[in-house]
Amino acid sequence: MIFTVAIDGPAAAGKGTISRAVAARFGFRHLDTGLLYRAVGAKGGDPVQAARGLTAADLDRDDLRSLAAGQAASRVAVIPEVRAALVEFQRRFARSDGGAVLDGRDIGTVICPEAEVKLYVTASPEIRAHRRWLEVGGDEAQVLAEVRERDARDMGRADAPLRAASDAVVIDTSALGIDEAVAAAIAVVAAPLTGT
Ligand code: DC
Repeated sequence: MIFTVAIDGPAAAGKGTISRAVAARFGFRHLDTGLLYRAVGAKGGDPVQAARGLTAADLDRDDLRSLAAGQAASRVAVIPEVRAALVEFQRRFARSDGGAVLDGRDIGTVICPEAEVKLYVTASPEIRAHRRWLEVGGDEAQVLAEVRERDARDMGRADAPLRAASDAVVIDTSALGIDEAVAAAIAVVAAPLTGT
C-alpha cells in the first residue's frame, strides 16, 4: 500500500511527537526530514557537496538536536542545490510500500503534493519557544528570538518556503496537550484509511 502522511509546520510545534505517534499507530515508516538538513549543516564545508554526499552515518551524530544545529540547518536549507540533492531520497521514502510519515517544511507542498493526508501543525511563537526552553534551558527571551528568526528564514526563502498546502488540515497545538494533539492527528489520518 502506498500511503503518505505529510506533516509540515514551524519549529517546536509538535510535529516530531505527532509524526512518531502516527507512524506507530498505523505501522508506517517515519522520516524526520529536518534531520537531513541538520546533518548537512553540521557537516561543515560546502553544503551542496555535503548534501550530495550525505550518508546514514551523517544522520547518526548525537549533536544534531541542538538549537545551533537547527539554525545551521535553516541556513543551508535556503540553498536550492541543497534542497534539490535531498528531494529524490525523500520522494522515494514517501512512496515506498507500507505507508510513510514525513515531517518537515515542504512535504505537502513540494516533496509529496500527492500525499493522501496533509497536516499543518502549528502553535504561537511564544508557546513554541516556551516548550523549547523547557527542553534546552538558558534564556527564554533568546530562545524566542531564535524561534522567530528561524520562522522568518523558513517562511521567507524563495525555494520551497514553509507554508500550509491549500488542502492541509491545520492543527494548532497552542492550547492542546500532547495526547489531544496526537488524537486529532490520528483521527485525520484514520478517515481515508477507514473510509469515514
Ligand atoms: O524540523 P527541524 O527543526 O529539525 O528543521 C531544521 C531546519 O531544516 C528548519 O529550520 C528548516 C530546514 N528544513 C527544511 O527546510 N525543509 C524540511 N523539509 C525540513 C527542515
